[in-house]
Amino acid sequence: MPIERLFATPVYAATLARRGVGELNAQLLRECRQLRADDPAGRRWSAANYPGGYTSYGTANKMHRASPTFGRLETLLRPHLGTFLRALQFDLAGRRLEMTDCWVNLMPHRVAHGSHLHPLSTISGTYYVQAPAGCAALKFEDPRLERMMAAPPRRARAPRAQRPWVSVPARAGQVVLFESWLRHEVPANPLRSERVSVSFNYAWF
Ligand SMILES: [Fe+2]
Repeated sequence: MPIERLFATPVYAATLARRGVGELNAQLLRECRQLRADDPAGRRWSAANYPGGYTSYGTANKMHRASPTFGRLETLLRPHLGTFLRALQFDLAGRRLEMTDCWVNLMPHRVAHGSHLHPLSTISGTYYVQAPAGCAALKFEDPRLERMMAAPPRRARAPRAQRPWVSVPARAGQVVLFESWLRHEVPANPLRSERVSVSFNYAWF
């Protein structure tokens, strides 16, 4: 086919590690729930900004420095970040990306996280601590969508690379990485069991 596919938008999804993920997740889950119990300011922030759920985004957002368990997660994420950065063909001019923020998200039944991006960051991502089968996925939006003023809709069976929205399933033990400008959302959790994730940002500047 005389067609070149340009301006790709890579999204990375992989299992965090071959061993020890179950143990790490059990400890992360305990700490995420303890944080919710110990963080009244975060619960107030969540009531205003994350209705029905709890996020430590407004209060405890440097968890990689506050807890050795989250520090271990940061260490395990680093090779994944390296692979993703190479795939993105970034020239980092000898500077490393640093994890600047790391926070927890607990989503009970029907809690959603509306469409957003992560300003002032380079790479963002999520690690799934508890993701029961059938829980809400991470839904990405085609970054060119706002420019498509007279473009027809795409076929329902179009390849994933050509759909306007693409969902990456949430699976416990999986890490998902993406460029921070890529708009995404988490639709309402349809399950009664809680969906628990740790999100993070990396900055280059
Ligand atoms: Fe996000």
